[in-house]
Amino acid sequence: MRSAIASGSEASVARTINDIVIAGAGQAGARAAEALRARGFKGSITMIGEEPHPPYERPQLSKSLLQFRDAPVAYIKQAADWTKTLDINIETGAAAIDCDADRRIVSTADGRSFHFDGLLLATGTRPRRLPALEDAHIEVQYLRSVEDALRFRRHIQAGSRIAVVGGGVIGLEAACAAARNGCRVTVIESEEHLLARAFPPLIGGLVADRHRSHGVEFVFGATVTGSTSGSVGLSNGARIPADLVLVGIGVTPSAELAIRLGLPAAEGIAVDACGRTAVPDIFCAGDAALQWSRCHGRAIRVETWANAQNQAISVAANMIGDAVEYNDPPWFWTDQYDLNIQVAGDMRNAEHIARGDPSSGRFSIMAMRGAELVGALSVNATKDMAMLRRIIAANAKPQRADLESPGYDLRAVLKPH
Ligand code: APR
Repeated sequence: MRSAIASGSEASVARTINDIVIAGAGQAGARAAEALRARGFKGSITMIGEEPHPPYERPQLSKSLLQFRDAPVAYIKQAADWTKTLDINIETGAAAIDCDADRRIVSTADGRSFHFDGLLLATGTRPRRLPALEDAHIEVQYLRSVEDALRFRRHIQAGSRIAVVGGGVIGLEAACAAARNGCRVTVIESEEHLLARAFPPLIGGLVADRHRSHGVEFVFGATVTGSTSGSVGLSNGARIPADLVLVGIGVTPSAELAIRLGLPAAEGIAVDACGRTAVPDIFCAGDAALQWSRCHGRAIRVETWANAQNQAISVAANMIGDAVEYNDPPWFWTDQYDLNIQVAGDMRNAEHIARGDPSSGRFSIMAMRGAELVGALSVNATKDMAMLRRIIAANAKPQRADLESPGYDLRAVLKPH
């Protein structure tokens, strides 16, 4: 017997897990596979990945790979290590396209079938496409794969004109790399400020100023409506000269398998705190999972490195019968020139309390909703953020007056009184 777990509501009926299939060979799939072995699972594990590579973490695509011209791609492990050391059957270059929940079979585009007792959907997300640039007359690219990053790196030569569509994390990290390499960069953002999805306008303004000091220009409240061979046309009538357009306008869940399973997936694949979908023995982890967030007060998809790591590890435990709930508050970071900016929880619809002086370039902002600390951000203040993440995760109730006091030691919040 490999691993026996109670099935459904009939806790007395133990079910044997021999075969686990992981659809998706990204960070979440990889960390789940490792966690299964670390927890002693001895059955078969098959990891099916669309890309021709072994799993890798994606932050490098917009960070280290662009920053250093000769930086090599860092894989989590080489394919041989998955196979030999962890005894995992890794199928790269194979897209899982169908799933039969009754027969417990996942099928790939090249016609192969894999049996499972437990299935993990770790299929992640795809970049949202910009219809105005389909069949464009100009070089257009997205930033989601190793190939994308290496291609963009080749293009960011001194003097190249780069138009970036989207002033979110991807667009701005790409803009940093291009500006540092001497490109002429224009960022086109449809909102009125940068990083609007997760950060308050203060941060958008700070980041815009930093970019401007490196020569980057911005167009706000507009989008791209068309292209010629040397420029893009904007919705406000302007025309921006460009040799290449980098599009970073968000992502959508890769949900073909979920749809085949009859699971609604437009907003993500709904899971409970154990990563279970509505179909028995089928789980989901990583960017595609729609999970409850206490800080946000609603279910969200968490598109972060930390979630791909930690939720996946936790869901893997549940797949083999260990009950482990995952409730970590969302957390991510972005590096913009010399600014390290991090956010935990939810900064929106909350009252903000500053810690440190924003004009000093090193500060944090805490977000309170009623008596609860629901979010925090830090700019070059990693120690504060480490503590604030712990406080939010513990659902501790700090006193507002304490947080407002400049010298307050955040460690006191978690000390027993
Ligand atoms: N034209 C211009 N800007 C647009 C358009 C458009 N048609 N559509 C959206 N935008 C802007 C949004 O207002 C937002 O500021 O693009 C930005 C997209 O930012 P994000 O939602 O952060 O998405 P992106 O930067 O693509 O990152 C995608 O990858 O690494 C992860 O954490 C990252 O989850 C993020 C994901």
